[in-house]
Amino acid sequence: MARCKSAKITGVAGYVPPRLLTNADLEKMVDTTNEWIMDRVGIRQRHLADKGVAASDLAVEAVKKLQCKHPFDLQSVDLIVVGTVTPDMMYPSTACLVQHKLGAKGAWGFDLSAACSAFLYSLQTGAQLIATGAHKRVLVVGADIMSSIIDYTDRATCILFGDGAGAVLLEPSDDDTGLIDFIHEVDGSGGCFLYMPGGGSLHPATVETVEQRMHYVHQDGQQVFKFAVRKQTELCQKLLERNGLKGSDIDAFIPHQANLRIINATADRLGLRPENVIVNIDRYGNTTAGTIPLAMNTAVEEGKLKKGSLVLLASVGAGFTIGATLLRWAF
Ligand SMILES: CC(C)(COP(=O)(O)OP(=O)(O)OC[C@H]1O[C@@H](n2cnc3c(N)ncnc32)[C@H](O)[C@@H]1OP(=O)(O)O)[C@@H](O)C(=O)NCCC(=O)NCCS
Repeated sequence: MARCKSAKITGVAGYVPPRLLTNADLEKMVDTTNEWIMDRVGIRQRHLADKGVAASDLAVEAVKKLQCKHPFDLQSVDLIVVGTVTPDMMYPSTACLVQHKLGAKGAWGFDLSAACSAFLYSLQTGAQLIATGAHKRVLVVGADIMSSIIDYTDRATCILFGDGAGAVLLEPSDDDTGLIDFIHEVDGSGGCFLYMPGGGSLHPATVETVEQRMHYVHQDGQQVFKFAVRKQTELCQKLLERNGLKGSDIDAFIPHQANLRIINATADRLGLRPENVIVNIDRYGNTTAGTIPLAMNTAVEEGKLKKGSLVLLASVGAGFTIGATLLRWAF
């Protein structure tokens, strides 16, 4: 079997459901203001799925858009990895549902749970299977319906999240484009700062878990904020240094979109050029596993990525999970 040096992203697309939740809408639901949200987080609006629409539906729409932009034979897909914290159900996995809905009969697949780092972890998992020569086509999807686990009476969390999905196609690279290097870490001691306590094997759903609002996102925002800035910067710095690079060498920094202040603080510490920092949090909010492919898609649409561009991806999520990936854009 042919061995490939690297995997490259050969197509990217994003999908968000049409319904909008604006800051003006939130002002009517909780004690908040547009000014506070814009100032503290940088979100103007989020897209929310209608009742009955699940993570697999957003994932399928994202893959369909990917296919329109970059035609490929679904029957040739070897693997589908879906990063999500809001699977349609506990099992079967969302990847199985997506495989069936797409009719991608030759693909196996699984879900990957790493919250906001799920897309980066899924990307590397897929890339490794290509690098070994085991696979030639891998679909990597990040899809979340955060509105299904958000308490819309809690002003500290309900302003932050939106629903959305993004998908990329990974294929072998035979030139110098593609994935170059990555660093992933977890710090399980941070689990208590961002979690959803109900619905798992520790606290299966009961009347009490519902009454105690345990099926929603619980967060200590300040702890998450401080950790995110510190660790995202640390991992990116380590990755740049070991590849002999400086922040100013990066053509496009595509970070997880959780808070504009986290993005700007990280970019500033890394010495990145502001025009090379990709931001779309204002339009979509935090879509968890969806943010990085959605932001990649924004970068393509805004003409900020061209063949050979040096790209740095970064994420921090519940767990804590942290990831940084360096790649050369392939198209
Ligand atoms: C959640 C977050 C926006 C809160 O911003 P902050 O500047 O840390 O604000 P604090 O939590 O210190 O709260 C400051 C005040 O604003 C209030 N506040 C919180 N949410 C508010 C809202 N939506 N509108 C108005 N006031 C709000 C708080 O109640 C607090 O009031 P108090 O001083 O009277 O107690 C910020 O901590 C954050 O973005 N954290 C990271 C979240 C994240 O990235 N999560 C996903 C990780 S993948």
